Amino acid sequence: MKTSTLYSLASFALALLGKSALAQPSENVTEVIISNADADNIDLSVLDFLNDALAEIATTYETPPAVRRNTLTANVVDVHSHVVPAWYKALVPTTGGNPTPAWDIDSYLSFMNSEGIARSIFSFSAPGANVYQGSKGLTVALARLMNEQAAAYCRANPSRLNFYAVVPLPYTQEAITEAKYALNQLGAVGIMLTSNFEGLYLGNPQFKPFFDAINKLGGRQILFIHPGAPYIKVRNKLVEANPTLYPTGTIEFYFETARTLMDLTLTQTIHNFTNIHYVIPHVGGAYPAVIDRVLKTVPALYDSSLNIYNTRFWWDSAGPTYFHQVSGLLGYGLPKTQLLFGTDFPYAPSFTQPGSLAAVQNSPLLSPLERVALFTTNPQNLFGSKIDCTYPESWRFN
Ligand SMILES: *[C@@H]1O[C@H](CO)[C@@H](O)[C@H](O)[C@H]1NC(C)=O
Ligand SMILES: *[C@@H]1O[C@H](CO)[C@@H](O)[C@H](O)[C@H]1NC(C)=O
Repeated sequence: MKTSTLYSLASFALALLGKSALAQPSENVTEVIISNADADNIDLSVLDFLNDALAEIATTYETPPAVRRNTLTANVVDVHSHVVPAWYKALVPTTGGNPTPAWDIDSYLSFMNSEGIARSIFSFSAPGANVYQGSKGLTVALARLMNEQAAAYCRANPSRLNFYAVVPLPYTQEAITEAKYALNQLGAVGIMLTSNFEGLYLGNPQFKPFFDAINKLGGRQILFIHPGAPYIKVRNKLVEANPTLYPTGTIEFYFETARTLMDLTLTQTIHNFTNIHYVIPHVGGAYPAVIDRVLKTVPALYDSSLNIYNTRFWWDSAGPTYFHQVSGLLGYGLPKTQLLFGTDFPYAPSFTQPGSLAAVQNSPLLSPLERVALFTTNPQNLFGSKIDCTYPESWRFN
């Protein structure tokens, strides 16, 4: 064979190899997911429910849209809701001390229609990928599988859905790999971080390389800081820390948001990585009640921190929070252009949803224009073209 023929054969083979990283329409979804995981040294076979999950992902791609088309004239964006595929509910039967809710894609889209929500940006809820504390291989594999499932929902419903990816912290290097895959290849619009990972809050020095890597991706990077259950170490074993008689989700989640925002602020993580914007659930949880106390003890950080809360922090309404609670946040004078709408569906009980929406719609704290902005232009200003969501052809399986 002539050298030139060998060269062209080699470059043809290389071109094929290069392409194999991206899903092609004609390819088998299962095989693409497994080979992309292999390329990142992730062994999905450590998960004993892998086949069930892969089958559900394949079904997600194949299911024809029933109530999926957006026929709404409203353009409400929900920046805080969740997906719960059956395999995840089986794996995580309780969340925050309450039963994990049942969920399916059609009831999710019906809920969106009922609330006038045109687009939802969802994540998995707590505990994210941290189901197997202390086990790196399982945590890394689960994070990948969760992101593949999330991407499948979005690709099957590109005009309605976007997602924040999970990452396998506290394993920092693996979390960076997963973040890059989810953002660059799966089309995630941001990353969901729980308030702590195996008891470590987000300002922990172990996580600094993660924030640095996300910041270095450039452009605008978005982190959704979701509360999770608090843990403490007792005789070197992590135990859930709940000093009251009530489920963790009732009140500890709000304290968790306060703890981790304090940590991110006092370590100056939020100051040093300036490409990163933060979506904060529940208008800050318990944090607004303690900001003065936290920052007045470090006067040098007072003005600079408030300036970041006013510009790179975005506060969602999930809760319900617009009966009175939001006044505590607004007391700090932050611009109402930083306010967003969130539902926490399906974890917030459905009977609370119409009241929560009405409380935002009727809030005397917002002018009519500020209200419209909260539902539409504020999220558009935050996410920009990330939620245009015209996926490349190569991302479609059907
Ligand atoms: C996709 O590949 C998997 C694993 O090789 C196989 O079990 C499955 O039958 C394939 N599905 C289709 C639709 O070809
Ligand atoms: C941020 O930078 C300051 C110096 O300006 C430094 O003292 C601090 O440790 C840094 N924190 C992080 C998390 O990078």
